[in-house]
Amino acid sequence: MPTIRFRDEEIECDEGAVLRDALLDAGLSPHNGAARYLNCRGHATCGTCAVEVRGDVSEMADDERRRLSMRPHDLDSGLRLSCQTRVEGDVAVVKHPGFWGQKVEDGGERGEEVAPDSDPTA
Ligand code: FES
Repeated sequence: MPTIRFRDEEIECDEGAVLRDALLDAGLSPHNGAARYLNCRGHATCGTCAVEVRGDVSEMADDERRRLSMRPHDLDSGLRLSCQTRVEGDVAVVKHPGFWGQKVEDGGERGEEVAPDSDPTA
């Protein structure tokens, strides 16, 4: 059963679970501030569930790629939409600042956990 590390918590989920759903089911949110209430509920249109993910996850599909290609996101940021990302193994997740969690350059809580060479399963 895969584990998800997020905001000082470690939870388990079924393999193939949607990341956003797994977080919400555990009482955690991939949204910042008012975006917890003002979001598209997982339809890949608002972009507020964007997170940095390290570990085994599904490939990016067209809907997700389309939304992450639009402002304020930047496809090159490497963020994923948690509502479109399926957990396929152990992962570490970081939410960056900003309404959409788009401020990757500003860091994020526990950003040190996902340095490029880090192993999220360590
Ligand atoms: S919840 Fe809106 S894009 Fe994921």
